[in-house]
Amino acid sequence: MSKADVVIGCFYGDEGKGKVIDYLAMDADIAVRATGGDNAGHTIKIDGVKYAMHLIPSGILSGHTIGMIGNGVVLNPEVLLEEISNLKGHGYDVDRYLKISDKAHVILPYHPLLDMALEKNRSAKIGTTGKGIGPAYCDKYERSGLRVEDFYASDFKEKLRELTESRRALIKYYDSDNCLADQLLSFDKIYEVYAGYGEKIRPYVCDVLTCLHKALERGEKVLVEGAQATLLDIDFGSYPFVTSSNPTIGGVLTGTGLSASDIGNVYGVIKAYSSRVGEGPYVTELLDEIGDQIRELGHEYGTTTGRPRRCGWLDLVALKYAKRVNGLTALAVNHLDTIGKFDKIQVCVAYDCDGTVTEDFSTNLEFLGRAKPVYKELSGAFGDLAECRDFDMLPQAAKDYIRFIESYIGIPVKFIGTGADRRNMLVRE
Ligand code: GDP
Ligand code: IMO
Ligand code: MG
Repeated sequence: MSKADVVIGCFYGDEGKGKVIDYLAMDADIAVRATGGDNAGHTIKIDGVKYAMHLIPSGILSGHTIGMIGNGVVLNPEVLLEEISNLKGHGYDVDRYLKISDKAHVILPYHPLLDMALEKNRSAKIGTTGKGIGPAYCDKYERSGLRVEDFYASDFKEKLRELTESRRALIKYYDSDNCLADQLLSFDKIYEVYAGYGEKIRPYVCDVLTCLHKALERGEKVLVEGAQATLLDIDFGSYPFVTSSNPTIGGVLTGTGLSASDIGNVYGVIKAYSSRVGEGPYVTELLDEIGDQIRELGHEYGTTTGRPRRCGWLDLVALKYAKRVNGLTALAVNHLDTIGKFDKIQVCVAYDCDGTVTEDFSTNLEFLGRAKPVYKELSGAFGDLAECRDFDMLPQAAKDYIRFIESYIGIPVKFIGTGADRRNMLVRE
C-alpha cells in the first residue's frame, strides 16, 4: 500500500499550490482535487507557456498523471469542457488522463447568478469569485443538489426543472430590480444545454473513491491537489470571509474518500510574503507603497478574476495555525525571488492584541481586527536566484530566511520557489 501526499494552501489562497503539484506530479500516477470549484486558479508555467487551471488538477500537465475530480468538488461543466478543449489544443491526451467523480455536484446556471445576487445584498461583502460556489454547496447540504450521476438518471429532467424554477424565484427575491434574474435562461434551454454537457462528460465519469483505493493498493503514487486555503476554510477560516468548503485536511478526506490512514506527507504551501483576494481581516496587510511593490514584483493579480491581490509580509502566527489544523509535515515556500528584491524583510512572529502578545492565531474577527503584527526584521537583497539549482547555491541571507521559518514552525522547508517557471524550484532532501 502506498500513501497519498497532500498539497494544502496555508493562508488565503494563491500560494503557488499549482506549481508544487506540477513538480510532484513528475512522479505521480494520480492527482486529485477534493474541494472547491472553478473559484480556484492554479498557474503553471512550462517553458514560457502559462496554464491557468481552474477545475482539472494541475498534475495532468505532467503528461502521464491522471487528473481526478473528487466528490467534494462543485463542477461547472461549461468551464470543464473549455479546459478540456484548451488542454487538447496543447496536445494533452485528456480523454485518457481525466476522471470525474459521479458524486461531484454540478454548478447550474442559477448558481453564479444567485452568488452575485446574494453578494449584492450583503452589507459586509465577502468578495466572492461570483462562480456560484456558495449556492452550489448550499444545494448540496440542503440535499437538493444535482450530482454528476444524476445526468444519467431517469428523473434528471424533473429534478433540473424543480431546482431551476425554485432558484429562479430566489434570485428574483434577492435581486429586486431583476437584472440578474432576467439573465437566467428558460428551462427548456437549460435542459437542452445540460443534457448535452452530461453526454460530453460521460466518458470521464467514474467511481473516484474506488479508483483511488485501488491505485494505493497497487502501490501507485497519489497526490491531492488542495484548492483555496486554510484561512478560507468554512470552519477554520476568517468566517464569513471564507469559501464554502473545507480546503483543510478534513475536506481532503471527505472530498475524495481517502481515509486518514491513507495520508502520507502533508505539504503546506506559502509564499515568502502573503496575499489575499476578496474581503476580510488580514493582519500583516501592507496598505502602503511596500504592499504595492510586492503586488507589482510578484504579479499579484487573481488568476480567476484578475482582481489585484492585497499584499503583506509573511505571517508565521497564521502559518503555525495552518500547521496545527492540517498536520503539515513540510513546507513549500514560493516567491523567494520576489521577497529577495527587498533590502529588509519583515516577518510576523506574534500578534499584539491590546498589550497581550500571543503566538496563537484565532479566527475571531474582533481579535483579528485588534491584532497588530510584531515583526522580526531579516536581511533581504538576495540577488538573482534564477541560476540557483539547490539550497547550497542560495545566498546566505536567503538561507537564513528559510531557516528562520523552519525554526519558528518546527517543520522543514522542502520546496523553494525561485521563479514562476517549472524549472525554478529547489528541492531539499
Ligand atoms: P495557487 O492558486 O496556489 O496555485 O497559486 P496561483 O497560481 O493562483 O498564484 C501563484 C502565482 O505565483 C502564479 O502567478 C505563479 O506563476 C506564481 N509563482 C509561483 N511560484 C513562484 C515563485 O517561486 N516565484 C515567482 N516569481 N512566481 C511564482
Ligand atoms: P486558489 O485555489 C484565492 C476567495 C474569494 C473570496 C472568498 C469566497 O487559486 O488558491 P468563493 O467564490 O469561493 O465563494 O469566494 O474566497 N477565494 C480564493 N482566493 N485563491 C483561491 O483559490 C480562492 N478561491 C476562493 O476571493 O474572498
Ligand atoms: Mg490561485
